[in-house]
Amino acid sequence: MSNHLIAPSILAANYGHLDKDFEMLNASKADWVHVDVMDGIFVPNISFGQMLVKQMAKVSKLPLDVHLMICDPERYVDSFKECGADTITFHIEATNHAHRLIQHLKSIGVNAGVALNPQTNVDTLDDVLEDLDMVCLMSVNPGFGGQKFIYRTLDKIRKLKAKIIERNLNVKIEIDGGVGLQNAEAILKAGADVLVAGSSVFKSENPPLTIERLKAIEINNFDI
Ligand code: DX5
Ligand code: ZN
Repeated sequence: MSNHLIAPSILAANYGHLDKDFEMLNASKADWVHVDVMDGIFVPNISFGQMLVKQMAKVSKLPLDVHLMICDPERYVDSFKECGADTITFHIEATNHAHRLIQHLKSIGVNAGVALNPQTNVDTLDDVLEDLDMVCLMSVNPGFGGQKFIYRTLDKIRKLKAKIIERNLNVKIEIDGGVGLQNAEAILKAGADVLVAGSSVFKSENPPLTIERLKAIEINNFDI
């Protein structure tokens, strides 16, 4: 039972030779490329916007998993879709109208994801869960790569997985922040479907091998 997806986070790549990093990812066992967009207001850091995402879409053979860490995401989702996003994930804390925005994402033909900051309870999604393609549980406070995994997240994964199974839904659980070979098995056993990995991939000696190892982890059952 190993059908989890690996989504290396391009935030940790080298911006001086992004094309080389995409060549590596294209030839690797990665499933998606995770693309972190930060506005300096929702999170205390600024990364990049549509122009760079459009270039990434041109060189990537893998689907782009765009994680919007921005206020009022409804203002920008159409433009990120036009740039080539396959999945768009916005933060529940960043909008008053998550339900409307999820419907909109579906109407423009993009996979709809919602991200929760570490303090946000998974119960908050009860009334929109069935409309989602993915829930991204932040396992660090968003804004920076290279932070430590918050272990409390494992309980959140188990709780969310139990809801998804009980309601027989087809919603992926993505875990974002501090994920690497040291904790990936525990995260998958808790019920995760997608592992985002930034520094643990790009700062490793052999990034494609690290991706391969993350992908090869086998688990036999969930510990829920
Ligand atoms: C954090 C970002 C993450 C980040 C993960 O704000 O959303 O996607 O790139 O980086 P690592 O794997 O280094 O924690
Ligand atoms: Zn992210």
